[in-house]
Amino acid sequence: MIQIHGIILAAGKGTRMNSSKPKVLQILSDKTLLGHVLTQVQKLCSKVHVVYGFGGDQVRKHINDDSINWVEQANQLGTGHAVQQAMPHIDDDSISLVLYGDVPLIEKSTLNNLITQAQHNGVALLSVVLDNPVGYGRIIRQNNQIQSIIEQKDANKEQLAICEVNTGIMAVNSGLLKTYLDGLDSNNAQGELYLTDIIEMAVSDGKTVASVITDNEFEVAGVNDKVQLAELERTLQQNQATRFMQQGLMLKDPARFDCRGNLSFGQDCEVDVNVVVEGKVTLGDNTTIAPNCVIKNTIIGSNVSILPNSVIEGAIIGDGASIGPFARIRPEANIGENAKIGNFVEVKKSTIGKGSKVSHLSYVGDTTIGDDVNIGAGVITCNYDGANKHQTTIKDGAFVGSDTQLIAPVTIGKNATIGAGSTITKDVPDSHLSLSRSRQTTLKNWERPTKK
Ligand code: UD1
Ligand code: CA
Repeated sequence: MIQIHGIILAAGKGTRMNSSKPKVLQILSDKTLLGHVLTQVQKLCSKVHVVYGFGGDQVRKHINDDSINWVEQANQLGTGHAVQQAMPHIDDDSISLVLYGDVPLIEKSTLNNLITQAQHNGVALLSVVLDNPVGYGRIIRQNNQIQSIIEQKDANKEQLAICEVNTGIMAVNSGLLKTYLDGLDSNNAQGELYLTDIIEMAVSDGKTVASVITDNEFEVAGVNDKVQLAELERTLQQNQATRFMQQGLMLKDPARFDCRGNLSFGQDCEVDVNVVVEGKVTLGDNTTIAPNCVIKNTIIGSNVSILPNSVIEGAIIGDGASIGPFARIRPEANIGENAKIGNFVEVKKSTIGKGSKVSHLSYVGDTTIGDDVNIGAGVITCNYDGANKHQTTIKDGAFVGSDTQLIAPVTIGKNATIGAGSTITKDVPDSHLSLSRSRQTTLKNWERPTKK
């Protein structure tokens, strides 16, 4: 099998981003721009070379992938010069696939097509036809065959009228590419070494440049500023939402749903407006998510109701559970089947058993709650002593009255009852009632003082 080398050009500064971050580290959906390109090419290439320049250390550190060959281009002398920097690391009898680090939505199938064409012809070029071709290199054809690419700044009036443009993405036999790159000069309007000049060289060399034309503008769209970044974000989200709906997910408004990561779902799930999903999220069957929820890295079972304005991260939610409105479920929360977590309840690193209820205004942290437990309004597990975290255990069938503080470490026994308003510092045995509440005093016919 022929080896494929990916060469990703990422040395440009991206001034128009107005950011301290290098352009290729700007975020689109769940990944950096460069991360998107890498995800596509790493599956196809035996080796990936990233040509970096501005902010290189930041890029390397952020991407943190030892399999990548990082190639420095200290001065940005043009796309041809950028590719030259990678060539010493590449064998002649391989295919070089040139990509841009700021063109994130390129499709694997298109790249595969280019690679196949390059195997047959030596050179394969990806182009696109645009309504407005301004700024791009134009594709010059004769008898429908690609002859050369003329950059905007070097083009005459007639050439400027051409709407087929160079995407910058190409696959070339590496030996040929080296020969052509050696012949580049900077006799052009920008005084740069243009990668695009290799096309004319290949044609003079008797090669037929294979042509792949994409009809998907977005897969070859580059990102230069935050307006374009937002446009691609919307495109990605819209396409993803369409795919989800085709697979059976009901989105009340696909324009008001964002998934930055991977969402999988069973049948008949419904997602209302302004929901953001991040990381890896799984829904069972027949689960509903109400408006304004943020859900990250969470496994949600079947027949679950996530009520409005809930924030859930790193949790497992059992079948039939109900969460919210206004609940905050934090990492390592495991909510059992048919359990209920109500409004203004925060749960962290805790297990809530089957059918248990924490309905109002509570904090449950570092706690194990058994099955069929009732936690009254305003109950707080005091898990932190200022230095260490401690565990609370509440066994099956216990009832904890409202406004109770459970000072951990503490265990509430099976079917035990805690009277409302208690501060519990000692373990409570099974089936006992415990309360720590000063006795109520009532003064007969007591008169309020009057103002003198
Ligand atoms: C380039 C193409 C043009 C094409 C357009 C598509 C050339 C000469 N022109 O033009 O035909 O239509 O892309 O967007 O190739 N880069 C480096 N080092 C450099 C110069 C550029 O790494 O010295 C990288 C940039 O970071 C960027 C990519 O190469 O990712 C393209 O560079 P850019 O300056 O945007 O090229 P254009 O002039 O737009
Ligand atoms: Ca560009």
